[in-house]
Amino acid sequence: MKTRLENQYLNIAPGLTNPVKNFVARVGWECPSNIALIKYWGKKQGQIPLNPSVSFVLHQSRTILSMEFKVNNALSMPQLDYYFEGKQSFQFRKRYLDYLQHISQYLPFINQLELTIKTRNTFPHSAGIASSASAFGALALAVCEAERLLFNTLTDEKSFFEKASFLARLGSGSASRSVMGGFSMWGEAFFPDDSSDEAAVSLAGIVNPVFYTYRDSILVIYAGVKDIPSSEGHALMNHHPFATARINQAKENTRELLHVLETGDEPAFVEIVEREAFSLHAMMLTSSPSFILLKPNTIAVIERIRAFRKDTGLPVCFTLDAGANVHMLYPDRLTETVQPFIISELKAFCENEIIIHDHVGTGPVRNAVQP
Ligand code: DP6
Repeated sequence: MKTRLENQYLNIAPGLTNPVKNFVARVGWECPSNIALIKYWGKKQGQIPLNPSVSFVLHQSRTILSMEFKVNNALSMPQLDYYFEGKQSFQFRKRYLDYLQHISQYLPFINQLELTIKTRNTFPHSAGIASSASAFGALALAVCEAERLLFNTLTDEKSFFEKASFLARLGSGSASRSVMGGFSMWGEAFFPDDSSDEAAVSLAGIVNPVFYTYRDSILVIYAGVKDIPSSEGHALMNHHPFATARINQAKENTRELLHVLETGDEPAFVEIVEREAFSLHAMMLTSSPSFILLKPNTIAVIERIRAFRKDTGLPVCFTLDAGANVHMLYPDRLTETVQPFIISELKAFCENEIIIHDHVGTGPVRNAVQP
C-alpha cells in the first residue's frame, strides 16, 4: 500500500516532468549530523523503521555540499561527477548515483541532469563519526532546491523540508532527522499527531528551552571502521528473539522522553537516554550472529561518567551510536565543571585524545560556501 507522501510525490503533475532546456544552476547546502536519544534500530522494507526515534542535530559536525546541474533533455539517467574533499571518489559516486536513480521516481527531472556534486565534512575523517546522515541530508536538500528552482514548487518551508526528510530517509534512515534544526522525531507514534514513518517531524515548540542548551562532547574511543555496517545490524532485528520487547520498549521510552523534553526534567532525561543507549547495544550483543561494537575504553569512560554523576549529583549522561564512541551530554551551565573532568579523567581513554565538543544545532543552512 502506498503511503501519504509517497502517493503525493509519485503523482507528478505533467508540468513538472519537463525541465527547462539547458537550464544551468548551482545550489549549496550544509547539513548537520544528528545523535539519537531514542534509537532507530531495525527496519521494514522501504526504509520504514520498526520503532520511532528521537534525536537532535549537532552544530559542528556537518556535511557541506555544492551541486551544479545542467538540464540535458537527451539524457535518460543522471550523469554524475562526484568529488569528496576535492578529489574524485568513485566509491561514493556509485552510492550517490544509485540513490539519485532510486529517488528519481519522486523527481523524474533528475534523469535529465548533468551533475557535479562536491562535498566535504567538517569533522575529521578518522573520528568514527557516521557521515551518512549529514551526507544524504545535504543531498536531499539540494535536489529539493533544484526542484524548487526548476518548477517553482516546494515554495513553503513545510513542504520543502518534509520532502527533503522523506528523500533523505531513502538514503539513510537517520538522515531523515538531519534536515531540520534542534530536536526531531521520525516514526509513527501516539504523539505528535503528524508523526510519520515516511518523514521526520520537528519537535520545535514541544522541547523545553533547557535542552536547547545541551552540549555533546564526543569522546572518540575508536576511530577505525566498524566491524559491521549499520545496514547489516538493522537486518539482524528481523529474526531477533527480543525484537517485540525492544519495539515496545522504544515506544514506551519515546512516550516518556517526549514528556521529559517538554517538562525539562533532567534526571529523568538521564535515565531514559542511558537506557536507550544500552538497549541498542544489547540488541547487537544478543543478535545472531552477535557482535560487539563497544570497546574496553567505552566501558571505562561510561563508568567514570556514572561515578562523576553519583559524586556530584549533576545531570550528566552518555549516549552511544552504532560504534564505540561515547557522547557525553550535559547542559551548557555545567560546562565549567564538566570539561575539566573530561580532560583530567576521560581524555586519556580517547584514541589520539580526540574529543569533539559539539552542541545542539540550529539545522541546515542554504547556500553554503563552495566545499
Ligand atoms: C544506531 O541511519 O545509519 O545510529 O538506514 O541503514 O542507513 P540506514 O541506517 P542508519 O542507522 C542509524 C542507527 C543508529 C541509531 C539512530 O541514529 O537512530
